[in-house]
Amino acid sequence: MNKTTILTTGAVLVCSLMLAGCEDDTYVVKTPVYESGLPANTTKASEFEKAFPLQYASYRQNDESSVMTEYKGSVNFRKNDGVNPLPRGFRAAQPYLKNLWLGYPFMYEYNEARGHTYAVKDILDIDRINRYSPDGKGNMPTTCWNCKVPNISQWVAAEGDGVWSRDFNEYRTKVDVMNESISCATCHDTTTMELQLYSIPLKDWLARSGKDWATLSRNEKRSLVCGQCHVEYYFTHKDNGPAGKPVFPWDNGFDPEQMYEYYNTHGANNGPFTDFVHAVSGVNIIKAQHPEYETWQNGPHGAAGVSCADCHMPYKKQDGKKYSSHWWTSPLKDPELTACRTCHSDKTPEFLRARVHDIQEKTYRQLLKAQERSVKAHEAVRLANEYEGDRNARYEELMAMARENVRKGQFFWDLISAENSVGFHNPAKALDTLMSSTEYSQKAIDLCLEATNAHIASGLAGDIRDIVPPILEFSRKLQQDPEYMKSHKWLTYLPVLPKAELVWEGNKRIR
Ligand code: HEC
Ligand code: HEC
Ligand code: HEC
Ligand code: HEC
Repeated sequence: MNKTTILTTGAVLVCSLMLAGCEDDTYVVKTPVYESGLPANTTKASEFEKAFPLQYASYRQNDESSVMTEYKGSVNFRKNDGVNPLPRGFRAAQPYLKNLWLGYPFMYEYNEARGHTYAVKDILDIDRINRYSPDGKGNMPTTCWNCKVPNISQWVAAEGDGVWSRDFNEYRTKVDVMNESISCATCHDTTTMELQLYSIPLKDWLARSGKDWATLSRNEKRSLVCGQCHVEYYFTHKDNGPAGKPVFPWDNGFDPEQMYEYYNTHGANNGPFTDFVHAVSGVNIIKAQHPEYETWQNGPHGAAGVSCADCHMPYKKQDGKKYSSHWWTSPLKDPELTACRTCHSDKTPEFLRARVHDIQEKTYRQLLKAQERSVKAHEAVRLANEYEGDRNARYEELMAMARENVRKGQFFWDLISAENSVGFHNPAKALDTLMSSTEYSQKAIDLCLEATNAHIASGLAGDIRDIVPPILEFSRKLQQDPEYMKSHKWLTYLPVLPKAELVWEGNKRIR
């Protein structure tokens, strides 16, 4: 292997750069500075092809959407569907997702993540944003664009914080679908190509915690650019800041308990924050989102200073030129596990793959158990809510405690469910969080039994799949069908929607 390689591209390299070779392959001595010849805030990726052909070609590899690994990969199958084959369903699904999110748009559609270049296409097509409303409104805030296109910073600069709470669909027609999706400007100054943050919630958090991007180490930046989006977040309630603004709930720390504590004082009137009220149990729920950054940072690799880019953007070589792969995908799709073996050079790909699968298999098993216990907890609250016979004298107090435990149990389960590595980024934290989730949900069930003097016990006996079957199919269209809405006892808690036809297809208004 070359000891040193000069990294060159079509662009002018202002200060030359030496990549340390051999054993220390990952550690680059100096950050390159380029003259791309492009103006600041160039949002279209194709504009960079001429100056950076290697990075651009690897960026376009994100268009690949067919290869799966044991648990993950790049087919956007429906995450609750373990019945149908790919591309609709997949073996490693979680059957109860629709049940647990009943009352929130996630119940309509939730798919496995795929490559960055699909982010815009997928959000335009997802049933979570209303494409049926006659007035053309999506009933979701513009904030959703924050993790899809770098254009958002320009919209905020032009229109201020009022942008966040505007309707998502107002911006449908303003994006170039496969060309601005998590584009170069998301992570780079488009003139010098230095790493840069565009994400407002991450910049806000750095400011709140007294950190300055300019003085952070290169290694920190190689993960923080991912931490712009691969994180847990929420949209502020108007009592707590500009309505709909994205915020990272990290002020108490990155662990589930600390984020939960933060949420309990950041909702309306500084009370508990709530994303939605569960349609069946009436419990106030927090929906967790993909906390890769929080999970990784105190895991075996994060704590050792191994960055997201080390595993997800390994160095590649072409025609003697060395560059960072911009194909952000599962490292397990590479048969040789090259990214891992930069450091674990003494291990075979088979050994490393088996280690990952061992962690994932155990995490997935506990994930399913925690999920089922959460479903049972909602059912227990439903039964206890409706039980009017011989109640415990402390019924109200016990039920308040039960609801709190359902909420916490579901948030803890969801943090690991939404985290995209099935435990690998932090095996101990994943199992601890799932075990805690199961405990909280069980506590909720016990409290419901106590509140009803155990009269609801028979309704909870037996296999959860018989008590509350998974809801396999659901969508906005199905919610318009009164017959379908009678097909599951939990669906009867939702209103039937008026008949309507699609108004939006992709970024075109068709009606
Ligand atoms: C030590 C290597 C390593 C580090 C560091 C690492 N990851 Fe991963 N990541 C993996 C592995 C292995 C998987 C599991 C892939 C699979 O199961 O196919 C994964 C999975 C993922 C996935 C899901 C991939 C898919 O196929 O859907 C995402 C997203 C992700 N990581 C993001 C991140 C982010 C963001 C960071 C930094 C905060 C990070 N990773 C740090 C190794 C790593
Ligand atoms: C999600 C964040 C992200 C996006 C989007 C992104 N890059 Fe990068 N890019 C990085 C990271 C991280 C590095 C490594 C920087 C380092 O190690 O200092 C990098 C490095 C580079 C480099 C330096 C040379 C090298 O290969 O290491 C160039 C040039 C570059 N990217 C071009 C592009 C182009 C062109 C696009 C759009 C097609 C793009 N990047 C999109 C994160 C990103
Ligand atoms: C602007 C927000 C944003 C940033 C920044 C970002 N990601 Fe992503 N990432 C996403 C979204 C959104 C998806 C899912 C896209 C889809 O499914 O349509 C995704 C998907 C992924 C996947 C799954 C790909 C697959 O094949 O299944 C990986 C791996 C990943 N990102 C890693 C990274 C890494 C590593 C970084 C930092 C270098 C990063 N991402 C930065 C938003 C972002
Ligand atoms: C930049 C260097 C680096 C890269 C790249 C890297 N690792 Fe590691 N890995 C480490 C370090 C450091 C540790 C911690 C070792 C220790 O604490 O003794 C570690 C620990 C591990 C462990 C044991 C801890 C655990 O989580 O069970 C496994 C397994 C592992 N790595 C697998 C992988 C896989 C798979 C990949 C690629 C997806 C990978 N590593 C990529 C440096 C790296």
